[in-house]
Amino acid sequence: MLVALLPGDGIGPEVIAEARRVLDALAIPGLAFEEAPVGGAAYHAKGHPLPPETLDLARRADAILFGAVGDPTCDALERHLRPEQAILGLRKELTLFSNLRPAKCFPELADASTLRPEVACAIDLLIVRELNGDVYFGEKGMRKTADGLREGYDIMSYDEGEVRRIAHSAFKAAQARRGLLCSVDKANVLETSQLWRDVVIEVHADYPDVQLSHMYVDNAAMQLVRNPGQFDVIVTGNLFGDILSDQASMCVGSIGLLASASLDANGKGLYEPIHGSAPDIAGQGRANPLATILSAAMMLRFSLGLAHEADRIDHAVARALAGGARTADIAGGMSTSEMGDAVIAAL
Ligand code: IPM
Ligand code: MG
Repeated sequence: MLVALLPGDGIGPEVIAEARRVLDALAIPGLAFEEAPVGGAAYHAKGHPLPPETLDLARRADAILFGAVGDPTCDALERHLRPEQAILGLRKELTLFSNLRPAKCFPELADASTLRPEVACAIDLLIVRELNGDVYFGEKGMRKTADGLREGYDIMSYDEGEVRRIAHSAFKAAQARRGLLCSVDKANVLETSQLWRDVVIEVHADYPDVQLSHMYVDNAAMQLVRNPGQFDVIVTGNLFGDILSDQASMCVGSIGLLASASLDANGKGLYEPIHGSAPDIAGQGRANPLATILSAAMMLRFSLGLAHEADRIDHAVARALAGGARTADIAGGMSTSEMGDAVIAAL
């Protein structure tokens, strides 16, 4: 089993190093690692954020563990050379269309949430975000209006096949959980969303045991802070999912805690923390590695068939937190590697 390690930029290398140590501590027979540069690091080393060798490794590997991309020194580059294009390129090239972003409150951390503890404690939800379409991948550009004004544009679209396949992922995820699916769109304004809603309703016919509801995205953003405990599975498009998943992360206490999986139709996946490269704290050993460690657990579970080892990591993280392990983002003083030590000790 080959795991591609793509640490990337900013705090990416620090958090990937801790996930690697945790995986090594499990001593899984036959698990091999190969590393390649991605994002700004790859641009500086090889002139492109997603060099061919990195894409090739990602294709060859059974699973990909990804750190973060984003590098302020690249802000002035043409868009196709910016670090973010690496993750967008991997998602698109490998058809990783189904992004699973679970958010669950650790009771010990309810105080770290900006919500009242009793509200935060009720959170146990999964955002299923479509990753291959929407305004992210539509035609985009800069042009001049008839009056000579500069105009930027990004086309939002989904075809029914794209909606159908993510809807199936979401209904299946809901079946494996509490059986509630909330589809989030903006069907009161957008045609893209009207099609989204129509297709989700059609797919529902295959999953009569799942209770389906629909919510406009503005209301969903409000409900996520008003009463997040009402949600089980949320399915939504690429842009709305990007925004709502950052919001959900803060509801549970810190963006440093949320893991994610991006899966293709065959269960191959890329696993990454949902946080970014955090250049402001990079290299200081202050980043919380738990989101990446939990992403490694998702990788063992979903792509490598190692559910028992995944459970061991999940339990070790819970035990480390229960034992008081805290990095700065969750009101503590531990360094990145001390948090890694705490998880390994709890294994
Ligand atoms: C995420 C990130 C990415 C996204 C960026 C880095 C392109 O914010 O994974 O949520 O917008 O999808
Ligand atoms: Mg995001």
